[in-house]
Amino acid sequence: MSLTPIGAPRLKITVSSLRDKKLHHEPITCLTAYDYSSARLVDEADIDMILVGDSLAMTMLGHDNTLALTMDEMLHHVRAVRRATKHALLLADMPYGSFHVSVEESIRNATRLVKEGGAEMVKIEGGEKRVDLIRRILDAEIPVAGHIGLTPQSVNRMGGFKVQGKSLSDIEQLMRDATALDRAGVGSIFLEGIPREVAEMITAEITTPTIGIGAGPACDGQVLVFHDILNLTFEPSAKFVRRYGDAAGEISHAIRSFRADVVSREYPADPECYHLSPETRQALENLLERKRSLRGRRAMTGLE
Ligand code: KIV
Repeated sequence: MSLTPIGAPRLKITVSSLRDKKLHHEPITCLTAYDYSSARLVDEADIDMILVGDSLAMTMLGHDNTLALTMDEMLHHVRAVRRATKHALLLADMPYGSFHVSVEESIRNATRLVKEGGAEMVKIEGGEKRVDLIRRILDAEIPVAGHIGLTPQSVNRMGGFKVQGKSLSDIEQLMRDATALDRAGVGSIFLEGIPREVAEMITAEITTPTIGIGAGPACDGQVLVFHDILNLTFEPSAKFVRRYGDAAGEISHAIRSFRADVVSREYPADPECYHLSPETRQALENLLERKRSLRGRRAMTGLE
């Protein structure tokens, strides 16, 4: 496995690149991004897949879970990420409620993410029970990613964000889900919040690339949430999160420094100001002087 050398031409990542990577045992990298500036940083760092996850309901919009997110809100963020994404495969979550409706409306919603948002793949939570719908979306020429295990849209059914696949019957169901998605022809399967042993079995059993989050190292790729790796969540993070930076600390320091500089009048300094040319400045001073002396004369003659 090699990183693209700096300056080397980068290939566009497609659905088939993901399969090639699995075949050649090259780890697949994926991060979420929800706006133009974060997506640019992710794309320029050579990450393979950018997921506009419905986690944006929590990270960007401050909800407690992902359920409230609407199609229009999702589209707004996908469009922004699209403008920044040149090389990575752009993947968008189908929000809760956007595929729990009729098949026709679900296909229409998936199509909107592609046509209006520029997504190249849509992600749908759920396994076996979503397979008929997924086949119909695939028939509409839209690549689909599956998502099984801890599926955040099932938070109410699960009774919280809890690790899944711990009992034998749950593991068997996860295997059936993964196999059904694999046979349906999805482009990748996200495995979230399951024991590493179960993720390893699934990854070895199917040809579809698996992308893990809290699912251990045997997955074909790993995904994390942008805000988690940068400490931007304001909450204690899950066990599987590794922090690679302290953006909250840096941003907070910058904001406090700006405030202090304004209050102490240290900002703006002269080099941060625009200036008149010496000729215009002289002309302005002459003008002001003429006005002052005119006012003085008027005051003396009692005209003012
Ligand atoms: O919405 C999201 O960020 C996700 C990842 C956690 C896989 O679905």
